[in-house]
Amino acid sequence: MILYGICDWFGSIDYNDLANICNRCWHELQGNREHWAVIALTSIVLYKILAWVWYYVGGFGWLECFRMVRNQTLGPMFRTLSSSFLLRDKVDKEVEKSLASLEKSLMKDDDRLTQFAELPADGWSDQDVLNELDLSQNVLAHSDWEGGKVSGAVYHGGQDLIRLQSQAFEKYCVANQLHPDVFPAVRKMESEVVSMVMKMFNAPESDGACGTTTSGGTESLLLACLSAKMYGLRKKGIRKPEIIAPTTAHAAFDKAAYYFGITLRHAPLDAKTLKVDLTRVRRLINKNTILLVGSAPNFPHGIIDDIEGLGMLAQKYSIPLHVDCCLGSFVIAHMEKAGFKDLPPFDFRVPQVTSISCDTHKYGFAPKGSSIILYRNRELRMHQYFLSSDWVGGLYGSPTLAGSRPGALVVGCWATMVRMGERGYVDSCREIVHTARRLKNFIHDNIPELQILGDPLCSVVSFTSDKINVHELSDRLAQQGWHFSALQNPPALHLAVTWLTRPVMSELTQTLQSLVKELSANSDQKPSSNGTSALYGVAGSVQTKGVVDRLLVGFLDTLYKTKHEF
Ligand SMILES: *Cc1c(COP(=O)(O)O)cnc(C)c1O
Ligand SMILES: *[C@@H]1O[C@H](CO)[C@@H](O)[C@H](O)[C@H]1NC(C)=O
Ligand SMILES: *[C@@H]1O[C@H](CO)[C@@H](O)[C@H](O)[C@H]1NC(C)=O
Repeated sequence: MILYGICDWFGSIDYNDLANICNRCWHELQGNREHWAVIALTSIVLYKILAWVWYYVGGFGWLECFRMVRNQTLGPMFRTLSSSFLLRDKVDKEVEKSLASLEKSLMKDDDRLTQFAELPADGWSDQDVLNELDLSQNVLAHSDWEGGKVSGAVYHGGQDLIRLQSQAFEKYCVANQLHPDVFPAVRKMESEVVSMVMKMFNAPESDGACGTTTSGGTESLLLACLSAKMYGLRKKGIRKPEIIAPTTAHAAFDKAAYYFGITLRHAPLDAKTLKVDLTRVRRLINKNTILLVGSAPNFPHGIIDDIEGLGMLAQKYSIPLHVDCCLGSFVIAHMEKAGFKDLPPFDFRVPQVTSISCDTHKYGFAPKGSSIILYRNRELRMHQYFLSSDWVGGLYGSPTLAGSRPGALVVGCWATMVRMGERGYVDSCREIVHTARRLKNFIHDNIPELQILGDPLCSVVSFTSDKINVHELSDRLAQQGWHFSALQNPPALHLAVTWLTRPVMSELTQTLQSLVKELSANSDQKPSSNGTSALYGVAGSVQTKGVVDRLLVGFLDTLYKTKHEF
């Protein structure tokens, strides 16, 4: 129990400058298990002394120091306590209550719909299936994405495009990229999709630039991390790989670390620009670093990291550099041509950039399930390949995570890109960026209670507030059909402007202004006990981190519950 507490305590340390030192001790420890308790205790005591000195010398004062120690002591203590018999019942009850309300809001169902907990004994007729599909769509009405009130999620949604994509899908419904000999047309289209995206990001063909299609941004990032890991292992013999990514980098990097046994080091942001702090990145670099990461732009705040600055570090220490353009997608790639002159260099024209991920299923408007990972050269791509030359099932090679892959999706992506053409994308980029800047300027000029985070240049605008609870604002917006994304550390909201948001921007700015006015007039009101604000209220408290994890598990479980389990 005590050891567990200490471990937990150690695990909660998050001061990167010292974490590096501790990290090395930790690696030593793992090879030396019989002494680990003694060494761990010594390191913790040393760390605590250092942390106090650091804080004091850093001019943070005793109060801050006390808070830090309290934060790092109470949290683990609470976690230990909450799993003890004393508190367990109480916490369990609270968790159950929250989950019940979560289920209620997610598990929409309707008695008019047929329940299928098991196969129907006899198959339905086509017409019955289609009727049930229509009925489902009608009685379980989805959020109003057609009205442009949802952040991101649906990036185009135009009826012409949907029709074209459905026709493309129908023609290639059975296609599988695993069998290029059976479906040669799909192979051709897939290679063309990669090539077109490569050109958009100025990939140098002379170096052998290349890429693959994937099922989405997450897979693109997983593969970039896998390739870097295998490159580090095979080329430099790195056995304990570490990736350095900004705290704002997409959670898929954490997922990659989780899947592939990589340590992810989060680099903090510059307080003013909200770009990753290059000094902090440099301090985190060590001989195990296999990849540096920057976003163009990142998901939370829509800020583009200093890719050239990261490039200098990548060059100095000979480390590959990945740029996550999943969200920037076809918007950032076409901004220059759309006439925006304020864009810093972010693509392969920065010579140290080794890989770029771009989601065709975001601003490329392709059907969901489609993204691209690009590499500066073939060798880097080769490290993401999986090869099995002695399998009883035959010689097997697979370029990405999936085995069989839905050719129809690649064809849908190809059809969309060819249909839109460069002019189509440049025009949509111009409109989307102008709309986002309108929102940014409106908030800046007319809603002093909200503060824009950094200076977003692309399609995402995020804001926080020192006057009102933004998560409460999110709940109020939701009541009017607007779905913003909730952020934390600091609490903020963001809107990813899409093709559908443009026509409703005036309505949005008016709604936002009046809701903010209303909330700041009643700022002493107790926040609602359900919805986003309550959830993030729990998540924001150090003492209850473990509880939030349980809520997340409950949320994921809920996705697979049928009515019979109620
Ligand atoms: C959307 C996104 C991703 C990947 O998301 P998927 O949901 O897997 O497509 C990665 N990075 C950023 C910045 C994103 O916005
Ligand atoms: C301690 O936690 C609170 C929130 O619980 C936070 O506002 C504060 O910045 C933290 N202090 C330190 C020194 O980590
Ligand atoms: C939250 O509470 C309010 C008022 O009690 C209620 O109207 C609303 O439906 C609740 N929302 C959810 C998601 O349960």
